[in-house]
Amino acid sequence: METSDDAAVYQLDGGLAIVQTVDYITPVVDDPYSCGLIAAANSLSDIYAMGARPLFALNIVGFPVGSLPLNVLEEILRGGADKVREAGASIIGGHSIDDPEPKYGLVVTGVIDPARIFRNSTARTGDDLILTKPIGLGIITTGIKREKVSQATIDAAVRLMATLNRGASEAMVEVEAHACTDVTGFGLLGHLHEMTRGAKVGARVSLSKVPIIPDAWRLVRDGICPGGTQRNHDALREAVVWDPGISREAQLILCDAQTSGGLLIAVPKERSAALIQRLQDHQTPAASVIGEIIEDPAGRIRLEP
Ligand code: CO
Ligand code: CO
Repeated sequence: METSDDAAVYQLDGGLAIVQTVDYITPVVDDPYSCGLIAAANSLSDIYAMGARPLFALNIVGFPVGSLPLNVLEEILRGGADKVREAGASIIGGHSIDDPEPKYGLVVTGVIDPARIFRNSTARTGDDLILTKPIGLGIITTGIKREKVSQATIDAAVRLMATLNRGASEAMVEVEAHACTDVTGFGLLGHLHEMTRGAKVGARVSLSKVPIIPDAWRLVRDGICPGGTQRNHDALREAVVWDPGISREAQLILCDAQTSGGLLIAVPKERSAALIQRLQDHQTPAASVIGEIIEDPAGRIRLEP
């Protein structure tokens, strides 16, 4: 807990540890089946960020019984079950309550070799920083709620959020990266801040190297930005040193609160190209070196154009 790691790890006898996570969200798109896919991929993500393998999951459901038709709930659960099956795991139970606002997510149990746990706080000076999905999903989903986004962009965002971080995780395990976290509610820079603070290092990031969903620029220029993203930006005021050439819009995108974002991986420079190659083999949505870990006060992030 002290370094805000992604999941709890409990060591059993010998070469096996249990990895345990829980996560649930409110709907980010209208289509219930897609909501199930996304919520499940989001819940599994913390397992993958640790380099672990999911075994089974339990549903957590809040649903407005009586005001929404029950087949909506069936579609959400079908999406969740399909995504968990794709992960090679199964849903073996759960709990639901009557709730005015729908909520869905999973408790996920996985396993890991205790000698090969990927923490978020073990990056080292000189590591490259690699991101496996583009950012801007929080701004896009807020744009969807305000009906400012084309169907093509909605479809692309759903595909991104529903993509498991499994391939990214396997690639990171194969090349023995140093550290990893998934990019979710605190945004790219919020999670990088946790990562660098925990490792007592700093980081340098180049805006031009960060993969960004193109429509996010248009929306943020029109003033569309989730409250969580603005809070992330405020919270990082002391930690981030912005180059004067970085616009306020770009700053908000870099702090954008993601649902089911990619993995942020710190890897030794000499294995960085091998990781990129393996990420491409696993067809991750992005495989971008966005910066590096540097010697600096713990948690400091320097943003360059
Ligand atoms: Co996480
Ligand atoms: Co989480």
